[in-house]
Amino acid sequence: MSSDKKAVLSWGEGKSAEFPVMSGTMGADVVDIRSLYAKTGMFTYDPGFMSTAHCRSSITYIDGDVGELFYRGYPIEQIAAHCDFPEVCYLLLNGELPNAKQRSDFVNIVTRHTMVHDQLNRFFTGFRRDAHPMAMVCGVVGALAAFYHDSLDIHNPEHRTISAFRLVAKIPTIVAMAYKYSIGQPFVYPRNDLSYTENFMRMMFAVPAEEYKINDVLVRALDRIFILHADHEQNASTATVRSAGSSGANPFACIAAGIASLWGPAHGGANEACLNMLESIGDASKVPEFIKKVKDKNSGAMLMGFGHRVYKNYDPRAKLMHETCHEVLNELNLKDDRLFKLAMALEKVALEDDYFVSRKLYPNVDFYSGIVQRALGIPTAMFTCIFTLARTVGWIAQWSEMIGDQDSKIARPRQLYTGSTSRNVSPIAQRK
Ligand code: CMC
Repeated sequence: MSSDKKAVLSWGEGKSAEFPVMSGTMGADVVDIRSLYAKTGMFTYDPGFMSTAHCRSSITYIDGDVGELFYRGYPIEQIAAHCDFPEVCYLLLNGELPNAKQRSDFVNIVTRHTMVHDQLNRFFTGFRRDAHPMAMVCGVVGALAAFYHDSLDIHNPEHRTISAFRLVAKIPTIVAMAYKYSIGQPFVYPRNDLSYTENFMRMMFAVPAEEYKINDVLVRALDRIFILHADHEQNASTATVRSAGSSGANPFACIAAGIASLWGPAHGGANEACLNMLESIGDASKVPEFIKKVKDKNSGAMLMGFGHRVYKNYDPRAKLMHETCHEVLNELNLKDDRLFKLAMALEKVALEDDYFVSRKLYPNVDFYSGIVQRALGIPTAMFTCIFTLARTVGWIAQWSEMIGDQDSKIARPRQLYTGSTSRNVSPIAQRK
């Protein structure tokens, strides 16, 4: 981790201070500035963490210039081709891919934790039927802490493991319940003879009057969506989970904080925003007009599903999602899907336009994931809940890693204060 390299900061009249440089296994070196204030009396200014590593991590790595993503060292393309979502969960949580016995034990435990406490059903009936499902999922996941007092000691590794199992197992049930509640249908209980993703689809789409028919192509597509969204380094929601957890908060509260952060349209809400954008553009003939609007900074319009803080190349998840989009639309005889055609036309124009080329703006995972989800019958308002379901395991892995890291400290950033200097309070009668 530490290397012989040093970074020297010079300022003022001949003042200088030396800082250690740390090297990871892949990616840029980092300057260890923990002693900056002690040595210089100054802080750093870096809104949005543009150049700040806020932790060390061995879970996920993105090479944004090349457009590569690795889970525990494995390229995402190989993971997507050879693993299913439970194997990915095992990998993220434990650091290695499971062998057959480990996989079966893991699936067995997760399967047996899928039901939620019956009392939790009542939380849903407290919400309005037209509540956004993310509001329900965020509230209900936070409420889990009220049900599992027996596993809230964050310094006990066994408690952390039990909480991880509970969250990975129960999040599909909670997401499906939010959907069923919003459309006024009865909750569908989990079935233990189905795979993780089959079970989720059944809880979403079965009704008491009719059994849900499993379609392997569609199950594989949703499983791939889960895999591609499972973790993504130090994004806004993961940094939120770590930040919440740094104070010693329980894992359910931390994951609820992550869900709140994910909801925003610049992050997990982008898939919903992207599909709404495609609907509002309407058809391919309107693409030039829309692109013109996006390029006009005063319009406030953005090309949703494009751009990324780290990827300055094609997001590898977007390529895999494009592939899945073809598979699903073929399976459902929707080859001429209007929005898919429109998305491809939009992508083509954007990739040739200097505005996007010069800023290195490429499609991200959300550009095609909404089209796949819509074809699977998932309504737009549920898209970010699907992302939540998939990302929960990444958040827990990151939270656990943070708890076990001796360098972890309560997240407490500094600021550049720009308000009034010290002044006196005058009695109310004398104030203007
Ligand atoms: N459409 C139009 N212009 C854009 C876009 C876009 N989607 N994204 C960035 N730009 C412009 C931006 O206006 C800026 O232009 P200028 O240099 O003239 O000021 C330049 O590109 C650099 O952008 P930035 O805002 O400094 O980049 P950032 O790293 O702060 O933001 C982002 C990254 C993902 C928030 C942003 O690209 C965005 O809002 N994209 C649309 C929303 C989206 O698709 N989000 C999903 C991200 S992937 C899923 C996930 O991980 O959550």
